[in-house]
Amino acid sequence: MLKETLIKATNEAAKVLTAYFNQPLVITHKEGVNNLVTEADHKSEAVIIGIIKESFPGHHILTEESGDLSQESEYKWIIDPIDGTVNFANGLPICCVSIGIEHRGKMIMGAVYNPFMNEFFFAERGAGATLNDKPIHVSEKSEAMKSCLATGFPYTYLDMPNGPLGVFSRLIRKGIPVRRLGSAAIDLCWVAAGRFDGFYEHKLQAWDSAAGIVIVEEAGGRVTDLKGNEYSPYQPGIIATNGRIHDELCRWINTEVEM
Ligand code: IPD
Ligand code: CA
Ligand code: CA
Repeated sequence: MLKETLIKATNEAAKVLTAYFNQPLVITHKEGVNNLVTEADHKSEAVIIGIIKESFPGHHILTEESGDLSQESEYKWIIDPIDGTVNFANGLPICCVSIGIEHRGKMIMGAVYNPFMNEFFFAERGAGATLNDKPIHVSEKSEAMKSCLATGFPYTYLDMPNGPLGVFSRLIRKGIPVRRLGSAAIDLCWVAAGRFDGFYEHKLQAWDSAAGIVIVEEAGGRVTDLKGNEYSPYQPGIIATNGRIHDELCRWINTEVEM
């Protein structure tokens, strides 16, 4: 029932993205010059919340646009109604619906759907990860130097040692390809599918990563915070890799080691 509801909510919300894509949009702004929210974000979120409430009226829901709809429950749904909103608003087909389910403080299920590429990623704790119902696995690459990475940047500049630009510049100077898709949920799924060997970012919110981390782990990958410690979606930093390059990438991010 949990899985059916998750899949239904993700599919129905994706129909909203498809309907509004490349159409004139009502856009408002959040903190940061280009931190947008469109009417499609609100509509997608309303559809998701409606479907969850029909089946699980007592569950806790945490969403990007409506905030924390707190309830006393073992289950929490963590929702990003459009991840990659700037892409969406510019007609770039790299954006998705992302919904994760937490049970007693542990992420147990996640769905990420990019309808523009017809890619539905799903994972349930202990049952593996899939792309359009076919099993997926992380890459086998073991040398960070030969890896293909992804990252993202926050809407407001982060001035800190080893910050987003410092790390990016260090990796690029070493000749390592680091892509920036503009959707953290898709970045994570592409690590799970073996397209990227690793992904890191300095400042995510719980709804950006909740679904993707289950998908990466169930595809055989590893997820930690930026220091290499156990990951929690309620702190900002993330490193998600195929596991093999994890420690090396973590060192590069934290110190200016020679490679
Ligand atoms: C953003 C995307 C982006 C990441 C930002 C997120 P949004 O989410 O995931 O890739 O770099 O940190 O805020 O605003 O498109 O839902
Ligand atoms: Ca997001
Ligand atoms: Ca969003």
